[in-house]
Amino acid sequence: MLSEVLMVSAPGKVILHGEHAVVHGKVALAVALNLRTFLRLQPHSNGKVGLSLPNIGVKRDWDVARFQLLDTSFLEQDDITAPIPEQVEKLKEVADFPEDCAINERLAVLAFLYLYLSICRKQRTLPSLDIMVWSELPTGAGLGSSAAYSVCLAAALLTACEEIPNPLRDGDGISRWTEKDLELINKWAFRGERVIHGNPSGVDNAVSTWGGALRYQKGQISSLKRPPALKILLTNTKVPRSTKALVASVRNRLIKFPEIVAPLLTSIDAIALECERVLGEMAVDPALEQYLVLEELIDMNQHHLNALGVGHASLDRLCQVTMAHGLHSKLTGAGGGGCGITLLKPDVEQLAVEATKQALTGCGFDCWETSIGAPGVSVHLATSLDTPIRQVLDGL
Ligand code: MEV
Repeated sequence: MLSEVLMVSAPGKVILHGEHAVVHGKVALAVALNLRTFLRLQPHSNGKVGLSLPNIGVKRDWDVARFQLLDTSFLEQDDITAPIPEQVEKLKEVADFPEDCAINERLAVLAFLYLYLSICRKQRTLPSLDIMVWSELPTGAGLGSSAAYSVCLAAALLTACEEIPNPLRDGDGISRWTEKDLELINKWAFRGERVIHGNPSGVDNAVSTWGGALRYQKGQISSLKRPPALKILLTNTKVPRSTKALVASVRNRLIKFPEIVAPLLTSIDAIALECERVLGEMAVDPALEQYLVLEELIDMNQHHLNALGVGHASLDRLCQVTMAHGLHSKLTGAGGGGCGITLLKPDVEQLAVEATKQALTGCGFDCWETSIGAPGVSVHLATSLDTPIRQVLDGL
């Protein structure tokens, strides 16, 4: 068991195309955001395991001795369906939630306990440690905050239990794990995501693990080679929604109207593939016409997503406001509110971008320009982190 403090971070994501369709085996294109989740793991000898999540006001600890007495054989699993609902039900008993505990707190704690007990149960004694996780990502907005949380937990716990080595060498400020280790991190992070979302496709944890720009289909992940440095406007409508409920609603619509909904999913798949082709072309020979194609793809996909029933009045408003400034937008992630992306062509004047941002802010939305394709899960030397982040993680 590791004895020193470990600092880990993982990025959020935006899905360019393929949300919802990816749950049904279609292609998704996703890119890592330059907004990250940070985790600090402090090993202890005080006999407690603690979890602190300042973003959502969670601070809990449990006696390691109580966990040590538990029969954790119910956590044994080997297949990708883990954890099954029965395992999650048992974990709820272990967590011992107060009655008034909010749902997002319950899910975050369950994912933590699941990963802690499953990964650390191979140790002779369960480790005593404190984990603090803090994020730059808004929660429940479609930017992959839960996946970044699961990825950070998986990476930190696997490293603390020496299932994977700490890749940080003397003199490094930041480092990343090998491909093989990333695969293990991603596998456990997917299980954490399943605790939170029920039946996710796995695209969010994959992009948070590997970073950059990815094509994802049925667990097959490939990095887009040299993706163009697209500039986007990211807008949070601040309308809360549940990914789990939205994914279930699309599934129900597919069951109810298979002849209507299946072709929509096939068309979204074709949009993602066309976007991938155009991005490939742009990497070699960028031209303005390619941006016009990307805009058309965005508009078509947004209409499809509305037809799937995952739109929202706030997202319609976002699209109308940006269109009034000649810019094209679509929802990103699960929809039903949450976030939207707007493509910024290279010829768009900064004044126009500012005017659009102002109009969106005027609707009560949060809006920021961002770059995409950030690095995936990383380990940091504590002193290399920016002071404000370090202070939050040190509980100051
Ligand atoms: C959520 O970021 C994307 C969805 O496609 C769900 C998933 O892929 O698990 C809506």
